[in-house]
Amino acid sequence: MDALSPVRLLVESELNSYRQLFEAALTHEDDYLGRVLDHVKSRRGKMMRPLLVLLVARELGPVGEATLRSAVALELLHTASLVHDDVVDQSDERRGQPSANAAYGNKVAVLVGDYLLSSALHQTALTGSTHSVELIARLGATLSEGEVRQLANIRNAVSTEEAYYDIIRSKTAALFAACGQLGAFTAGAGAEFEERARRFGELVGMCFQIRDDIFDYYEKADIGKPTGNDMAEGKLTLPAIYALSRPEAEPEAGRIAARVKEGTATRDEIAQLVDFTLRYGGIDYARSVMMRFHDEAAALLAGFRSNDVRRALGLYLDYVVGRDF
Ligand code: IPE
Ligand code: IPE
Ligand code: MG
Ligand code: MG
Repeated sequence: MDALSPVRLLVESELNSYRQLFEAALTHEDDYLGRVLDHVKSRRGKMMRPLLVLLVARELGPVGEATLRSAVALELLHTASLVHDDVVDQSDERRGQPSANAAYGNKVAVLVGDYLLSSALHQTALTGSTHSVELIARLGATLSEGEVRQLANIRNAVSTEEAYYDIIRSKTAALFAACGQLGAFTAGAGAEFEERARRFGELVGMCFQIRDDIFDYYEKADIGKPTGNDMAEGKLTLPAIYALSRPEAEPEAGRIAARVKEGTATRDEIAQLVDFTLRYGGIDYARSVMMRFHDEAAALLAGFRSNDVRRALGLYLDYVVGRDF
């Protein structure tokens, strides 16, 4: 039992149908590719994105094939982005097991990520809707833009809050936004509800990435992937950006931040910058921003008519900000 169990229960049969389609999409008779896909699917992840698609669609009635295929496509795209992200971030653990790059090397991980991405487009094509195909294709571009902008941003001397929000909106929130939008669209919603569901997903995604970035500050967080990786990769996230922007910030912290971005900071310097961020209220600030997005999302739930769906999405949203993995 976790906080999401009652949420999953509401769409239990839909989730079962989703799982079967997802399994099938990740099966291949080629020995080697099949083995790598087995590795990737052996740990399921939290299924946050398909869950959002299915919950939003439930608002409008029984869930049909196009909704299920969209949920599969969005989770495949998410999976592809994780496989590629671990190559880019040189990260060796994902979902409590070796990442694809750690187990099979970068070359295989890049190619399998491409395979997953193409499978996502294939699943969307099976919905028969060019609107959905266009949305997913554009989404793939947006996610990549976000990751590229993040890399480019590492080379900028200063990281600003605005640049941070732009990056996380593209690399993470856009995917959750598409879950809301496609959940609504495939269930036959009108334009107004589709936009409400899209915006709800976007706000969830902003919360989700800020929460993820906070995890990275804690050494012993048991989240199935390494922590302390962001600064090691030259990434400064919201807590540090805020602490560094304080007028009374210690000049030494600014000097270390510059070395973090250059990739020349030592482990000890990174530890000092983490300590500085905590002392200057960076985590508290990031939490307060996250709660602002949370409250804005919660207010959108007033436009949902189904009591069950509204309650489930409320729990889902609370889980995103309160989750401990
Ligand atoms: C990880 O997403 C990537 C981020 C956007 C931070 P999840 O935490 O949803 O990953 P899984 O699917 O549950 O492993
Ligand atoms: C989010 O960024 C990853 C994607 C959008 C693929 P992170 O690099 O913080 O994600 P994790 O922490 O590796 O899951
Ligand atoms: Mg990463
Ligand atoms: Mg992270």
